[in-house]
Amino acid sequence: MLSTKQKNNALTAHATNSKGQRLSPIRLLDYTHGKIDEEALAALAGQSILNPRQFDRRTVVAIAQLAALLESRNVEMDKPLDGKIAITAFFEASTRTRLSFESAVLRLDGKVLSVPDGQVTGIAKGESLADIGEMFNTYGDVVIMRHPDTDCLDEISKNLERPLINAGNGSGHHPTQALIDWYALLKWRPELCSPICPEEKKVHLGIIGTPGSMRAVKSFVRLALMFTGAVKKITLISELADPVGLDLTEPIEESPIPIEITNDAQEVLSQLDVVYVNSIAFLGDSYRNLDARYKLDASSNLKPDAVILHPLARNDELSEDLDETDHNLYFAQAAGAVFVRQAVLVAVLDRMSALGLG
Ligand code: CP
Repeated sequence: MLSTKQKNNALTAHATNSKGQRLSPIRLLDYTHGKIDEEALAALAGQSILNPRQFDRRTVVAIAQLAALLESRNVEMDKPLDGKIAITAFFEASTRTRLSFESAVLRLDGKVLSVPDGQVTGIAKGESLADIGEMFNTYGDVVIMRHPDTDCLDEISKNLERPLINAGNGSGHHPTQALIDWYALLKWRPELCSPICPEEKKVHLGIIGTPGSMRAVKSFVRLALMFTGAVKKITLISELADPVGLDLTEPIEESPIPIEITNDAQEVLSQLDVVYVNSIAFLGDSYRNLDARYKLDASSNLKPDAVILHPLARNDELSEDLDETDHNLYFAQAAGAVFVRQAVLVAVLDRMSALGLG
């Protein structure tokens, strides 16, 4: 019998999650015949990544293809980010986003200037983000920023001339998290890549959360609306009567995907193929737990083959007794973060040639 370590090595060139489903990048690469959509990736060179609306389905799949290549091969010897400096400027708490970005850069031979807590910058003395942006122009080649203010992207962009990657702006967006979510789904079911997915492979997405005030949920839905040939229905489950928020109103109205809103999780849970859950909302200047009355555990009325995504950190809404089950896609989702962020950085910093691409 194979040990867990041997099984992991058969799936990927790198270590992966310890519990829940383990996802093979090879299945995704095989489904797309090993092809990487280099044209879609080349269009990201020098670009900031601020809002998922700047993507289309083709670009999301291209980033997933490159992430799968990076996950399935040892590319460290190619040193694709050699000579590049990434600044990670975090003015709000993070476990996964900052550390996976930093790991992504360091594993590809780039260097990192890390601000794990914005209060150690001149912000503590009243300095503006715009002035900090001016300084960053000479300190690094790309800036990855998280900030509690939704308007922070405009503020730092007044002077910043380097590509800016939004790592979460208040209740705004978290675009690279959404790419990670979709990377997990595309590895789990590669047929979702197809503009016309086979009927039996299409998914009914259920989202327990309030996209209007949860940036990760909002960005996930924004990308979901692009997969019109793969998503057969979206059900939003929230304690709020109108959980959608301004940003998504128009894309939802224009989408051919049927969207329903309910506050009754029990009514729909057994119909869902994918359940995306989150409860942490950033409201004003503090965190609140919205929708925390909807809790998932091993006794929840889930379809036998349903999978759960969660951007993490979790609270009581997602019980640890699900961790050992095949419903657990959330640890594999988190494990894919380094490779998606590597793919984004290689494309934005125009280093695909170091991998023999572009
Ligand atoms: N998913 C996510 O954004 O996690 P962190 O808050 O730990 O970065």
